[in-house]
Amino acid sequence: MEIVGNSAAAIFESIRGLVQAGHLRAGQELPTVRDLAASLGVNRNTVSSAYKRLVSAGVATTQGRLGTTIRDPMRLGEAEGSRPGCRLMDLAGGNPDPEWLPDIVQVLAQRPQPAALYGAPAVHPELEALAIAWMQGDCPPAFQIDIAGGAVDAVERLLACHLVPGDKVAVENPCFVSSVNTLRVAGLQPAPVGMDGKGMIPAELEAALAQGAQAVILTPRAQNPTGCALGARRAAEIRGVLSRHPNALVIVDDHFAMLATDRYFNVIPANARRWALVRSVSKALGPDLRLAVVASDDHTSSALRLRLTAGTHWVSHLLQQAVIGCLTSPAINARIEGARDRYAERRSLLRRLLQERGIATAASTDGLNVWMPMETDSQPLVLELARHGWLTRGGASFGVPSPCHGVRLTISSLAADDAVRFADDLAAAMKRLAL
Ligand SMILES: Cc1ncc(COP(=O)(O)O)c(C=O)c1O
Repeated sequence: MEIVGNSAAAIFESIRGLVQAGHLRAGQELPTVRDLAASLGVNRNTVSSAYKRLVSAGVATTQGRLGTTIRDPMRLGEAEGSRPGCRLMDLAGGNPDPEWLPDIVQVLAQRPQPAALYGAPAVHPELEALAIAWMQGDCPPAFQIDIAGGAVDAVERLLACHLVPGDKVAVENPCFVSSVNTLRVAGLQPAPVGMDGKGMIPAELEAALAQGAQAVILTPRAQNPTGCALGARRAAEIRGVLSRHPNALVIVDDHFAMLATDRYFNVIPANARRWALVRSVSKALGPDLRLAVVASDDHTSSALRLRLTAGTHWVSHLLQQAVIGCLTSPAINARIEGARDRYAERRSLLRRLLQERGIATAASTDGLNVWMPMETDSQPLVLELARHGWLTRGGASFGVPSPCHGVRLTISSLAADDAVRFADDLAAAMKRLAL
């Protein structure tokens, strides 16, 4: 393997060629700028700008002074959900309870519509009206509505609208696995922001933005995995931080909005230039209804529309019809309320059962999960629980960049008697492991 070239463009092409030919592999470190400049007989700035180009083209990643390495675009972390057919009792999947999801086929049958053809508006006007009413008051007053294929899809497209590979994105730590995966695939670098029980720590967010993060992804409630929500005061503090960085792209992932018991508090300051509030229907209507509503500033919305036009163009009007049908059905709205109450009951039951056994959980107030923070690696406990029939998700999935300690327990389908059995098994497992 020999890197050649006497200009930034030639060095870039040489390294890219070596990667394409398989001579340089993912994870392999490139020579230091100083060494390569010396061996090629060129100025250090020339090598440095070749490396910058490699990073922005997604070929390499840089860790500042720690060097530049070849990137593995295919390496993904864990994903949400569990494999079907697993014989363990699933407390790992992060899924809603299928019993509480509406019958979409029936909803569609009640809304016969002509087939949508090329040229149809990307957003169904009725869904747009519902979305405007849903978003109004929760973000800056001037906004456009777009529809994406779920919250994860929206986040991915929004990042692609404004960022280039190598850019840093401030994320909660611990963080939702798909957000970390999205950054990885796009060649973006997560800038972890520590959390306390009330959400992102404002001073840490300030530091991440001051150190060049171009965007921030925030979960205002039902944070995954901790379940925490931003109260009024924390949201105001974060808004204050963001108002000092008006160019940062602010993505608010309010994925649990339809089922939330916590109030929503806006973090997007009035002077933010690039922002989006994303609300998904996955948890209330089912993850197969891949649809999220996006409210954003004019410029972001135009960029998002361009990206949609170049790809799927629109989210299927059948899905849009199904969502309209659900949102306007009193029976389904009552069902969503029922699911919200059921999830809240299940969360507080499991937390109480664990507390009675001396096991502390995060004061999570919303979401489908209960988070059990730990002092040490959760993996031995996750394995011990699996031996006793329980599938749980260890902290390794959520830490940015290194594993965090804790276990996430999905409560959505956990009936009361199973919750008691689980609490007993967990207490016994912790005793055996001397935790
Ligand atoms: C923070 C967060 N965002 C987004 C999603 C998924 O949203 P969607 O299914 O609309 O992509 C989840 C699912 O658990 C989540 O926890």
